[in-house]
Amino acid sequence: MTTDHDEGLEVSVRRRNPLTRLLVIAALGLPFILPASPAAAAPTTPARHLGDVVPAPVETRPDARGAFRLGPTTVIRTAPGSAAARQVGRQLAETLRPATGYPLPVLAVRSTPLPEIALVIGGADARVGQEGYQLDVTRHGVTIRANTAAGLFAGTQTLRQLLPAQIEASDRQRVTWTVPGGRIIDYPRFAYRGAMLDLARHFHTVDEITAYVDLISQYKINYLHLHLTDDQGWRIQIDSWPRLTTVGGGPGTGVDGVGPGFLTKADYKAVVAYAAARHITIVPEIDMPGHTNAAQSTYPELNCDGVAPPPRTDIAVGYSSLCIGDELTYRFVEDVIRELAAITPGPFLHIGGDEAHATTDEDYRTFMQRVLPLVAKYGKRASGWNEVTQVDPPTDVVAQFWGTGTTNADLADAAARGNKVIMSPANKSYLDMKYDPTTRLGLSWAAYIEVSDAYGWDPATRVAGVGEDAILGVEAPLWSETLRTLDDIEYMAFPRLPAIAELGWSTAASHDWESFRTRLGEQAPRWRLQDVDFYPSPQVPWL
Ligand code: ACM
Repeated sequence: MTTDHDEGLEVSVRRRNPLTRLLVIAALGLPFILPASPAAAAPTTPARHLGDVVPAPVETRPDARGAFRLGPTTVIRTAPGSAAARQVGRQLAETLRPATGYPLPVLAVRSTPLPEIALVIGGADARVGQEGYQLDVTRHGVTIRANTAAGLFAGTQTLRQLLPAQIEASDRQRVTWTVPGGRIIDYPRFAYRGAMLDLARHFHTVDEITAYVDLISQYKINYLHLHLTDDQGWRIQIDSWPRLTTVGGGPGTGVDGVGPGFLTKADYKAVVAYAAARHITIVPEIDMPGHTNAAQSTYPELNCDGVAPPPRTDIAVGYSSLCIGDELTYRFVEDVIRELAAITPGPFLHIGGDEAHATTDEDYRTFMQRVLPLVAKYGKRASGWNEVTQVDPPTDVVAQFWGTGTTNADLADAAARGNKVIMSPANKSYLDMKYDPTTRLGLSWAAYIEVSDAYGWDPATRVAGVGEDAILGVEAPLWSETLRTLDDIEYMAFPRLPAIAELGWSTAASHDWESFRTRLGEQAPRWRLQDVDFYPSPQVPWL
């Protein structure tokens, strides 16, 4: 979905002499100016309006006189000396070049006489914080200001949506590339806006994961949680326990035995780096002390009776448990946490903790009291499914709520003590739930989730006693029992993932189904050009 960096079009002009600068720019621009003549082209989609963006921006001030027309002489300008801004500029150029056919050189200069898209660190409205941005569109150009590269990147994703949908085409389109005029000031409601892929039930390749990163980064998602281990498969290389992947992730693993595969450490690092370049942090999960059959069927010594159970390829849950009283269990867990922490630059390491029905309450507490400090020992902050709140964990432990109800006493008590919560109610945010009884993929144990259901809740009022201050953010998990391909992933995630993204980013006051479904419908031509196999929900007026 992205093209290689075109270093040939990038120059850094540090000389102060304005004449020299002009000459360089003219030399760069001329060969491209001459052949390009898009003047006869007419837009083939309705004009964009400043607020036509998912997730909805915080503040938009349209200015009808100020529309900018992206043209063959437009440059992308970043402040000299800012490598971070330059990288965002390069990514923006790669996104805009195929459909426009314009060179869009990325210039690290203080000013240009040319129409420009300027990416500037600093000078934004004080409200934008660490992830927000200010976007100004006038006749002369577009300026995105932010305090961080993440903020600039978010601004460029908004700019992308403000251009005609054909901007997503992979070949040159004859379109008038108009950006509506005015100012946007935008920043997230919650710090954590997540998606999750389940690599255990069916493995997803590096290409599939990075394709998903491309898709979710357009909606200002900033965390991708990878469910790396479960009863049906172990999907991350651990050098000190090598058969976890060769056997536990090998041929015949996965649901119905047809989802084998694993990430080598090199693969994992490549995913981490690819996501980081799109301002997404990977959260790895090792699910324990239940959901561990793949490890226990591989290594007999991880079982209390020393006997390896058979591999499992069905979708039952709640039958496996690590051996809580055996010291070897903690050597195993520490090896895994140490090796995984070493290749995880992000702050979080998720330890699962859900559905440990084969572990007694007392053993569960013993296990968590041993394992939570191990996560801290290797420099990470533990997160876990909401069951971890049963053991009164330290207040830096993040609990991920996946229940279907609106009360949970353990979670409310943890929130009162200061633990932060990620909201993933299964009957609202689980992307593997069917849309309706006719959906060919997915499960339905939590609910049927149409788009209006995925959008129709408030993270800060969902669970009694877990209010806005306790919420770190939201996450949309996608479990893979029934999913095989990237098309399957896309069909379940789109259009519901953007709904959850909007709940995480946009203000509670802006929550409005009519507005959302209209803006969502405008995404369809973009998804068609991106080859996204989305579910055409009858609830949405698709363009
Ligand atoms: C879960 O769905 N068991 C977290």
